Amino acid sequence: MKSRNLLLSHVEVPGIDGLDGYMKHGGYDTLKKALKSMSPDAVVEEVKKSGLRGRGGAGFPTGMKWSFLAKPEGVPRYLVCNADESEPGTFKDRYLMEKIPHLLIEGMILSSYALGANQSFIYIRGEFMYVLNILEKAIAEAYAKGLLGKNILGSGYDLDLVVTPGGGAYICGEETALLESLEGKRGNPRIKPPFPAVKGLWGCPTVVNNVETIAAVVPIVSEGGEAYASIGIGRSTGTKLISACGNLARPGVYEIELGLSVEEFIYGDDYCRGIAQGKKLKACVPGGSSVPILPHYLVTKTAAGENRLMTYESLAEGGFESGSMLGSGGFIVFDEDQCIVRNTWNFARFYSHESCGQCSPCREGTGWMEKVLNRLEHGKGQMHDIDLLADINKKIEGNTICPLGDAAAWPVAAAIRHFREEFEWHVTHPDEAQSRNFGLITQAALA
Ligand SMILES: Cc1cc2nc3c(=O)[nH]c(=O)nc-3n(C[C@H](O)[C@H](O)[C@H](O)COP(=O)(O)O)c2cc1C
Repeated sequence: MKSRNLLLSHVEVPGIDGLDGYMKHGGYDTLKKALKSMSPDAVVEEVKKSGLRGRGGAGFPTGMKWSFLAKPEGVPRYLVCNADESEPGTFKDRYLMEKIPHLLIEGMILSSYALGANQSFIYIRGEFMYVLNILEKAIAEAYAKGLLGKNILGSGYDLDLVVTPGGGAYICGEETALLESLEGKRGNPRIKPPFPAVKGLWGCPTVVNNVETIAAVVPIVSEGGEAYASIGIGRSTGTKLISACGNLARPGVYEIELGLSVEEFIYGDDYCRGIAQGKKLKACVPGGSSVPILPHYLVTKTAAGENRLMTYESLAEGGFESGSMLGSGGFIVFDEDQCIVRNTWNFARFYSHESCGQCSPCREGTGWMEKVLNRLEHGKGQMHDIDLLADINKKIEGNTICPLGDAAAWPVAAAIRHFREEFEWHVTHPDEAQSRNFGLITQAALA
């Protein structure tokens, strides 16, 4: 299957990051069409028809989320773009914003128009300061051209768009923590319900969507929801940005049609071109550090022997026993020399550091997991530590306000399920485990 680009088709065109370059290639034509000939509800309808699912990780249908937005009289509504992107292995939103910022801005205006928002925000990861500057420049260009502000393109529709740096914590990507942070408070997740669609930013109805989700609204409105839905398979419609990293011959950000086989994505000439240095595939985490790891024999085939596809459903086939998730599309590949214990410990360290501390199962549990994995990795663990880890997992899962605890627990559980002998080896070979200092995908390669 050839790659079809809806979002990244012009990404390599020189000057596409500026307004003139973007408009020369059809940029803002969709907005002009929508403001001239479509009602806000008609835009929502196209998004519903497209079958678009949130690209931030959970895959919730975007049109349905939009239709939940409460519309009380005299109360403002907000659209907030989640550009916090801090999940290890995930760097597709940064790429999109850096290369083609006006696509996100056009998507923001279209989506805000559809939702009846007159004030919208892009909440961007604090470390992405240079991308924030790119966005601010693009927003200033859009204001100067009458694409933002009062009476956009003479339509009578007003929108102000603000870009705000994030609080510098992974938890601020969780949508209610993000809203707290945007309000100037500590980024602690809120108890739900009420959901943001009813009570969001400053208590007003709010939609929070991922960068890629909002950008996808442009081709959906341009080509029509049905045309978008004709791409992909089943409930996995359209295209998806995948940030491919780890031991791949050609890592990078790819736009794929959902339904592409995992095998073609890893080995195909149009994509990652196989494992780096001709080594063998050992395992893959297909959806960012929060999702279960798959051993090599479950990466390209499901346990039932079906071809594994890049879709929400196929990657989850087999449930927690033998499946994983598409998640945020952070596709991390491990070659035969990678140490699963070391990499699992590395992720656990991240979650322990990033737990906001609000719920004790997550605050204490992520810390305990990190300590036990540290022991095991460095040859100081015992056999019962492996079961202890599995037990801590069960105590975290489902017992917290937000899914960060689950995100920390699932990868550890999956690593033990599929690579138990490697954990045991660290116990039975303490000296070798202690002196080993390799087999880790570095932080730099994950971001
Ligand atoms: C700990 C944590 C971090 C998250 N980080 C992000 C993020 O950086 N970007 C994002 O879009 N969604 C992130 N999410 C998911 C958001 O809560 C939310 O589901 C998403 O922004 C909704 O947008 P979508 O429907 O377009 O996917 C995170 C969730 C959790 C639990």
